[in-house]
This record gives sequence, C-alpha cells and structure tokens, in this order.
Amino acid sequence: MTGTLIPACGTTLNEVDDRSFRRLADRVYADCGIVLSDGKRNLVTSRLARRLRDLGLEDFDAYCRFIESAGGAEERRRMISLLTTNVTKFFREAHHFTSLERQVLPPLVERARGGGRVRLWSAGCSSGQEPYSIAATLRKLMPDAAKHDMRILGTDIDPEMIRIGRAAIYQDAGDAQIPAEMRRLMFGPGQATEKGCRIVPELQALVTLTELNLMQDWPMRGRFDVIFCRNVVIYFDAPTQARLWARFAEVLAPGGYLFVGHSERVSGPACGQFGPAGVTQYRRL
Ligand SMILES: C[S@@+](CC[C@H](N)C(=O)[O-])C[C@H]1O[C@@H](n2cnc3c(N)ncnc32)[C@H](O)[C@@H]1O
Repeated sequence: MTGTLIPACGTTLNEVDDRSFRRLADRVYADCGIVLSDGKRNLVTSRLARRLRDLGLEDFDAYCRFIESAGGAEERRRMISLLTTNVTKFFREAHHFTSLERQVLPPLVERARGGGRVRLWSAGCSSGQEPYSIAATLRKLMPDAAKHDMRILGTDIDPEMIRIGRAAIYQDAGDAQIPAEMRRLMFGPGQATEKGCRIVPELQALVTLTELNLMQDWPMRGRFDVIFCRNVVIYFDAPTQARLWARFAEVLAPGGYLFVGHSERVSGPACGQFGPAGVTQYRRL
C-alpha cells in the first residue's frame, strides 16, 4: 500500500472516493439488497482496500470499472462476500430455541413420526451456527430425526460462509452461551480436531447448506414449516424488507413459524398474513 494521493478527489488509495462509493453502493443494493449508507464509507474502504492491492488496481475507480466490466461478475460476488456482516453464534437469541423446543417442534416431530414431511429454513445462515443450533434442538426431541423426512436448509449469499458451514468445524464450540446438553448433542466426544470441534454426523445429515441470494429466485420446492431469518433484513431498506416478508409468507405453510432478529419486525402488506407468536416470532395465518 503506497498511500498515493489521487488529486481529483483528494483521497488516498486507502480511501474510497465519493463517486466510487456511490457506484459500489448502487451495485451492492442492486445485487443483494444491502444498503450502504454514507456512514459505511470507512467499512467499504477497510474491507476492500486489500482486495484492490491484491488485484494490482490503482484506486477505487479502477475497481468500479473492473466489477462493471463483462468479466466482473465473479468479482462482484467476491465484493459482496467481503462487505456482508457475518456475525453469528450458536444459540443466539436463546429464547427462540426454547420456543422451538417447547412450542414449535413437538407437533412437527409427531408429523414426521407419522411419515409426514417437515422442512425448516435458516435464511441468511452465515457460517452455519444457526441451522446446527436448530438441528441440535431437534435432535434433543428426536434422536433419530435424520431417518425421517425432516430436513433443515441453511442458505446464505456468501459462498465463503457456506464453505465454512459445510466443513462444520468450529472454534466457538466452547462458547459459554451454548447449553451443556446442546454442546454434547452438537459435538460429542471425539469430535475435536486441530482446527476446532466438528459437528457430529447425525446433525450434518439433517442440514443442507447452499448458496442463495434472497433477492433472486428461490428454487426450493414445497413449503416450509419454520423459517429463521434473523439479523439479515436489518441491512435492507423498508421496501426490500416488505417484499421479503411477503415472499416468506408465500413459502411458509399455514400455521408455520417465522423467527426474526431482535431488532426486526414484519412490515408492509405481509403483516396481514402473520400473527404474533412470541418475542420476534410470528405465525403464518
Ligand atoms: C449477521 S448474519 C446473521 C446470521 C444468523 N442468521 C444469525 O442471526 O446469527 C447476516 C447474514 O445475511 C447474509 N445476507 C446478506 N444479504 C443477503 C442476501 N441478499 N441473500 C442471502 N443472504 C444474505 C450475510 O451474508 C450474512 O451471513
């Protein structure tokens, strides 16, 4: 990094200039719905500066031209991967897992035991801690869940997060927030590796992780009984959020549950399709 001054805008190579910031923000919004407000300029600079250097580009204007070029699609995915916030935890917002165990899962377990189909979706699952926490809760109630037609789908726009989730080896396995019983159900003895603890095969068999941009078509067939979409829509603007809630309403079975993040609320026309079912928890009417 040389810190060369770009005379036109008075910024250094380390800083994104106004025009490039706007172009990048417009591109990110169009591709994945994330709003980069002016307050995110430092974030954009800090997360992309190294990428510019690795690509040998002289400034953010050159980077904009690159991502907008015919061959720029792959780099746009990479950029979104660098700009997304992937913070997550096992059993984050623990009250949702209590509700899952006591209220939501028992009738679904019954249905699966009777030969029925049950589907749960963790939309915006980051590196997999959320779907594996759901799977551990299910395993507690139904140790043989994987032998039934019961599956958890985890999707995220960020391919790097999906790669980590599929590898299923975690350094945060010792997180004090994980209830001891759940830790045992998730990791079990003999699952320690040099890089962390591996999720037991019984849970991996329940969970499928795949890349999916929520702004694009959803290829999944059939409805879901439970959707977790937590701490994802906070990065979107109100119209994008409203569209997403309506799409979740479409793919959620009647009586199905939607869990959202602590600062999120269902909004827009979809409000009429959901009833309250607990703290940041809704039920499809
Ligand atoms: C803060 S994490 C939340 C993870 C988890 N749901 C939780 O609450 O712990 C937000 C995730 O949403 C994903 N995301 C952002 N925009 C997305 C989009 N358009 N489609 C799919 N995933 C998206 C990010 O890649 C990131 O992993």
